[in-house]
Amino acid sequence: MIRSDVLFQAATLPYELLTRNPVWESRCVRMLDELPPGAKRVLDLGCGPGNSTVQVANALGRGVFGLDYARAMLHRARARSGALPLVCGDGTRLPIRSATLDAVTFHSVLYLLPDRRAALAEVARVLRPGGRVALLEPQAGTANTIGGIVRAMGTPRWAVAATLWRGVSGVYGRFTRDELRGLLETSGLSVRKAESTLGGLAVLAVAERPLGA
Ligand SMILES: C[S@@+](CC[C@H](N)C(=O)[O-])C[C@H]1O[C@@H](n2cnc3c(N)ncnc32)[C@H](O)[C@@H]1O
Repeated sequence: MIRSDVLFQAATLPYELLTRNPVWESRCVRMLDELPPGAKRVLDLGCGPGNSTVQVANALGRGVFGLDYARAMLHRARARSGALPLVCGDGTRLPIRSATLDAVTFHSVLYLLPDRRAALAEVARVLRPGGRVALLEPQAGTANTIGGIVRAMGTPRWAVAATLWRGVSGVYGRFTRDELRGLLETSGLSVRKAESTLGGLAVLAVAERPLGA
């Protein structure tokens, strides 16, 4: 299987064109509701062309930064917002000191990583106690695929993006809510919620590094 950062390096422009739509961006904004009160130091992991990073940075300010493995994606994020702090790096080996972040957002990224446990262990390491991770990941299930695509039909650009996203996640992987909960819990994080969103196409999960951990 082709490594996902290589795929996204090649598909940067079409990806940006398809995902810069109100449905996708509203889900990026939705993650803000899940961050701990007063969050300032926030990493948007797998930031891509900055869809999610810009939304989080607009709300929280200068402590928000993006990280991605694909340089072409970082160039697009830079073009979108010259002020965004951006880092080229691997989500499974974060160049960040332990217990320094208030939150990590993962918008449509974990499913692409071959070693998901390593990525979540890194997230648990860099979060401060009480810090939170918010993830939006493709949800497993044929009924979710059909229902979600049918609901997306009313918004043609989103319907195309959703269908392609479903195709890519069919190759790299999808999660049930319980699978995502299990992965977060075995990484030492305490799950606050794992709920269906985007008409069943995705799971929104939120977990916290326990106080005292
Ligand atoms: C589906 S895009 C999501 C982009 C953005 N978060 C959004 O919501 O539009 C996934 C991103 O994860 C990045 N990625 C894949 N593997 C990675 C890794 N090991 N470390 C960091 N980023 C990675 C890809 O390069 C790509 O930009």
